[in-house]
Amino acid sequence: MRTVYVNGQYVPEQEAVVSVFDRGFLFADGVYEVVSVLSGKLIDFAAHAARLKRSLGELDMRVPVDDDELLEIHRELVQLNEIEDGLVYLQVTRGAPADRDFAYPDAGTEPTIVLFTQSKPGLADSPVAKSGIRVITVPDQRWGRRDIKTVQLLYPSMAKMMAKAAGADDAWMVEDGSVTEGTSNNAYIVKDGAIVTRHLSTDILHGITRAAVLRFAREAQMRVEERAFTLDEAKTADEAFVTSASAFVMPVVEIDGATLGDGTPGPVAARLREIYLEESRKAAV
Ligand code: PDD
Repeated sequence: MRTVYVNGQYVPEQEAVVSVFDRGFLFADGVYEVVSVLSGKLIDFAAHAARLKRSLGELDMRVPVDDDELLEIHRELVQLNEIEDGLVYLQVTRGAPADRDFAYPDAGTEPTIVLFTQSKPGLADSPVAKSGIRVITVPDQRWGRRDIKTVQLLYPSMAKMMAKAAGADDAWMVEDGSVTEGTSNNAYIVKDGAIVTRHLSTDILHGITRAAVLRFAREAQMRVEERAFTLDEAKTADEAFVTSASAFVMPVVEIDGATLGDGTPGPVAARLREIYLEESRKAAV
């Protein structure tokens, strides 16, 4: 049984309550973050806190707690739930006004803030990272502000189910012939030694792991191209991989049935995973 955090209180999970009028529930009017925990410490915390504030700002939502308090809550939950390896999920919504109304409630309405932990023993040693994942592609039918980390995750959930139905692990989304990103991760290909990933815009989430991995890649003198890449390029790439707070760097070995290289994780993805885990563990708080 977990202890979760709801609006200033640490409570047993079965006692945690949010109003049925909460705008997160009625309108998906909320944003979230997922921070990974390795050896009891938070990975890339400051960057996740900064992106949370940006998401809130883009939606004219109030920031419910400052960075120090946010860090304190994360640490407290990790400790209370004895998380060695796992995740901390955080959600902030525009709160619960007295009734359902499309218009935002007045600014005095308290935002809702909820955090909970997920224990994932051995998160960084996933055997899947050694075999790689297989992805299918689906049209990107999400809204146009994918840079805001909102809880509107129905289409990515549908895409994940389409992947499962096709016997694959995940889906990459495609718009105008180019890959945007994965259901819950940023997408990359490697061709002739160059790491290619879509440039930042409102078309994709500005991944925290993406920023760190690209920085480490450049520091290691690897070539990085931030640009859109087509599905055809992807299928004929030497390697592919995805990044996220929960998967770190995860090799992709098959796209729409096309095998990449020899069908095993490529050296660039493997190396980046190693560097990312090593460096982010060092910087963990
Ligand atoms: N997903 N793109 C999308 C659409 C995402 O949902 C995520 C993260 C990412 C990677 O971002 P980051 O490196 O900051 O985790 C990219 C989280 C992990 C989730 O929904 O569980």
